Amino acid sequence: MMVRTLVISLLSIGALVTSINVSANENEPIQPIKAVKPKNPELVELGKMLFFDPRLSKSGWISCNSCHNLSMGGTDNIPTSIGHAWQQGPINAPTVLNATMNLAQFWDGRAKDLKEQAGGPIANPGEMASTHELAVSIVNSIPQYRAKFEKAFGSDKVDIDRVTTAIAAFEDTLVTPGSRFDKWLEGDKEALNKQELEGYQLFKSSGCTGCHNGPAVGGALYQKFGVHHPYKTDSKIEGRKAVTGKDTDLNVFKVPTLRNIELTYPYFHDGAVWTLEEAVKTMGKLQLDRDFNKKEIDSIVAFLKTLTGEQPDIKLPILPPSNNDTPRPQPF
Ligand code: HEC
Ligand code: HEC
Repeated sequence: MMVRTLVISLLSIGALVTSINVSANENEPIQPIKAVKPKNPELVELGKMLFFDPRLSKSGWISCNSCHNLSMGGTDNIPTSIGHAWQQGPINAPTVLNATMNLAQFWDGRAKDLKEQAGGPIANPGEMASTHELAVSIVNSIPQYRAKFEKAFGSDKVDIDRVTTAIAAFEDTLVTPGSRFDKWLEGDKEALNKQELEGYQLFKSSGCTGCHNGPAVGGALYQKFGVHHPYKTDSKIEGRKAVTGKDTDLNVFKVPTLRNIELTYPYFHDGAVWTLEEAVKTMGKLQLDRDFNKKEIDSIVAFLKTLTGEQPDIKLPILPPSNNDTPRPQPF
């Protein structure tokens, strides 16, 4: 009897130990972000210049960085973006950080990858309001830019395909490894405090990880917003229905990444929610039919803040000047 008890308890200690080891990595629903090493640094550098160059817009005043500010988590931190001539956009700007991990781009997934996405805002009348032809002719008029294309692509031809390829290559580098949560995943048990760990356990046990999982803690699937209760909003945005035409895709969105979520307020596709506490409360109620108490909300929020990673180390690019041949900006 004694021996049997001993054997069983030894076995269960064994099981416990293995489960702790395993829980440090591969059995978790979230994986650490790996740093990237660009294959073509010349292409990335060119893409960075284009990302920061406001001359890709009709006004000569709006760059990708205007709405995806890399000083502010890759967003504009306002509910919906301001586009050409101060137009109010219909939807919140998602972060470009870790966007390379998304199964598709935009809230409704209408662009299949970063390259396809990058052509959108340049020609969107409510955003940069240019045309691909105009943007290309501006870049092409600048010899220093053509020299960069030569280095990156092997010839100095400038076209929209190359412009968007370069921007996407730069965006591929905008990943944020090294968060405290990743350190914990990689075995540093001191990296999280008790409250943060409780928050993570609750994040898993209550079902958040059913949708927010993988290295980006999101970005991997489409789900309905309002599974148990509808989301109340004035926004006319329909989600995936706009792409597929199916009624069942009404209010279905790409599950957003929760990496760097502390930096990317306000929340949701309408940007209506300013605090993480309210966002977590709303998710609990609408997606899981669960009313979290204050302590539970605070612990999940504490966990979410451990997902802030090392921000890309960007040196502001110095852009070559326009010249006599460069089409002029049309701000008004
Ligand atoms: C006027 C503001 C504005 C400008 C300028 C802008 N964007 Fe965006 N961006 C947005 C908004 C708003 C969305 C979400 C649109 C949607 O989902 O319908 C978005 C979506 C994205 C996404 C998808 C992210 C995701 O998680 O789905 C990427 C990537 C992106 N933009 C990159 C760029 C690049 C590259 C440029 C420059 C060529 C650019 N943006 C210019 C506002 C802007
Ligand atoms: C059934 C899938 C699903 C579940 C479960 C779920 N979410 Fe979400 N989550 C989403 C979707 C879809 C969105 C985007 C909603 C929208 O359109 O604005 C979202 C958005 C969010 C946002 C705002 C992100 C942003 O950038 O605006 C936060 C924060 C969040 N979820 C946290 C949680 C937490 C915490 C839980 C668990 C309590 C949870 N989610 C459970 C699908 C889910």
